[in-house]
Amino acid sequence: MAAGATLLVAAVVATGTLLAAGVWGFGAAPGPGAAPVSNTRPTASSTPSVSVPAIPSPEFTPVPTPSATEPPPAPAPPAFDRAALSIDDPTSPWFVVNKLRPIPDGANYSPPDLVDLPAGMPNPNGYQMRADATAALDAMFQAGLAETGVQMVAQSGYRDYSVQVRAYDYYVNALGADGADLTSARPGYSEHQTGMAMDILDTVSGCSTDGRCFADTTAGQWLAGNAYSFGWVLRYPDGKTDVTGYEFEPWHYRWVGVPLATEMHATGIATLEEFFGLPAAPTY
Ligand code: DAL
Ligand code: ZN
Repeated sequence: MAAGATLLVAAVVATGTLLAAGVWGFGAAPGPGAAPVSNTRPTASSTPSVSVPAIPSPEFTPVPTPSATEPPPAPAPPAFDRAALSIDDPTSPWFVVNKLRPIPDGANYSPPDLVDLPAGMPNPNGYQMRADATAALDAMFQAGLAETGVQMVAQSGYRDYSVQVRAYDYYVNALGADGADLTSARPGYSEHQTGMAMDILDTVSGCSTDGRCFADTTAGQWLAGNAYSFGWVLRYPDGKTDVTGYEFEPWHYRWVGVPLATEMHATGIATLEEFFGLPAAPTY
């Protein structure tokens, strides 16, 4: 072979090797039988589809834009403070009197600011109460009448020491001392002497301050569910004789003010003794 021919063959072989190695960046050279290479650009339809996973977007909670017409949310009410008022001062709405907690100097105590009950309120025995309790009683009677159509009656309010002497003696004569002590406070131990208790009946049921009759009346049921919102609590609830010392008195309500009555309702604590962590007072 002539020298020139040798050089030409070497050049051809070298070029083929380089193409086979893909040194130009187009991949392997087509082998025998490969389809002819098109020199046109690939179209979208000819491009293999690639599944790209969706990129999760970060959690986003839109912040509501306050409306110009909506008032701002009301601030939370202050937490109930059970030490805010005295439970030992007989003039305090929270005064707790029971068989272990007599009224201080009870034989001589009379409450301040006693007032007559409103002229339109049924008050067959002419009782008085303290001013704030009277206003709360009037509001409660009016709401009860509006909601139920039943007129409630102020059966017994403030009783001074001497009246309580007569009341207790009446029950001792009728029931004996043990029976009397389940239904009547001894003189100096009655909530009625504080001017903040009321026995409530109605004009339609015929029930009296005896037994359970009033509990099942329209007025009795309404009071049991609503009195708290006027600042009153049912003082001698059913099933609490071992705490209060008295049988169920569905008519006997005690004014303690709206904050305490509402807190007792909300917590479901039925007696003042339990609410304030005082000893049960079943006996003297
Ligand atoms: N009936 C209630 C207990 C009182 O006499 O005060
Ligand atoms: Zn009573």
